[in-house]
Amino acid sequence: MLLHVPAVLTRDEVAGLRERLDRADWADGRETVGAQGAQFKHNLQLPEASPVRAEAGRVVSAALERNPLYFSAALPTKVLPPRFNRYQGGGEYGFHVDGSVLVMGPPDARWHVRSDISCTLFLSDPDEYDGGELTVTDTYGEHEVKLPAGDMILYPSTSLHKVTPVTRGARVAAFFWVQSMVRLDWHRTMLFELDQTIQKLRARHGETPEAVALTSHYHNLLRLWAEV
Ligand code: NI
Repeated sequence: MLLHVPAVLTRDEVAGLRERLDRADWADGRETVGAQGAQFKHNLQLPEASPVRAEAGRVVSAALERNPLYFSAALPTKVLPPRFNRYQGGGEYGFHVDGSVLVMGPPDARWHVRSDISCTLFLSDPDEYDGGELTVTDTYGEHEVKLPAGDMILYPSTSLHKVTPVTRGARVAAFFWVQSMVRLDWHRTMLFELDQTIQKLRARHGETPEAVALTSHYHNLLRLWAEV
C-alpha cells in the first residue's frame, strides 16, 4: 500500500522544524549505509548524535501519535526515531531497497526493528526545489511522489525506490521505519480498507448492528495476524 497521509504536521510545526534544521550541522548521508548503498546515495543527513535530530524527532513522533490515519495504515509496534535528510546541488539516491532489519541501541542493550513500512515526511514545499521526486516501484509500475511540506508518504519497505536529483533549491525531509504488528502488506491493506469502510459506515448511519459485526471481524482478523 502506498498511502498519502496529509497534514501530519501543522504549518507552524513545519516552520519551527525548518528553522532549526536549516541551521543544523549536516553530514554525508553515506555514513549510515553499507558499501552497496553508498554507491547510489548522494545526500546529507543529520548525524545520529545531533541534538537537533533528537529534538526534531520528538516533534515528528508526537505528531504521529495523534494521527489516526497513520495508525490505521501502519499498525505500528516498533518505530525507529525519525532521521532527517537534505538533497541539494544535484543530490540524489538511486534505486535501492531499505535494510530489512535495523539494529539499534548500545552494545549491552541492543534492539532490532524489522522494516515493514518506510515513511517519508516532506519538510520542503514542492515549489522550493526542482527534481527530488520519491519514485516507488510496485507491481503496478513506478509512482512519483512529491508532497506539500507536512504531508507524509507511507510505502512497503520491500519496494525498490529512489530520489531523483535535486537540481534547484533544497529538499528537506524526515524519514523513518516502522515494524508493524501485521507483517504482510496485503494483510495490512485489507485491515486498513476494512477500518476505513467501517468508519465511513458509522459516519453515515451511526452505530448499527452491521457496523458492530464488521468491527468484530476487524478485531478478529487483527487477532489472527498481529505479532505483539
Ligand atoms: Ni530508502
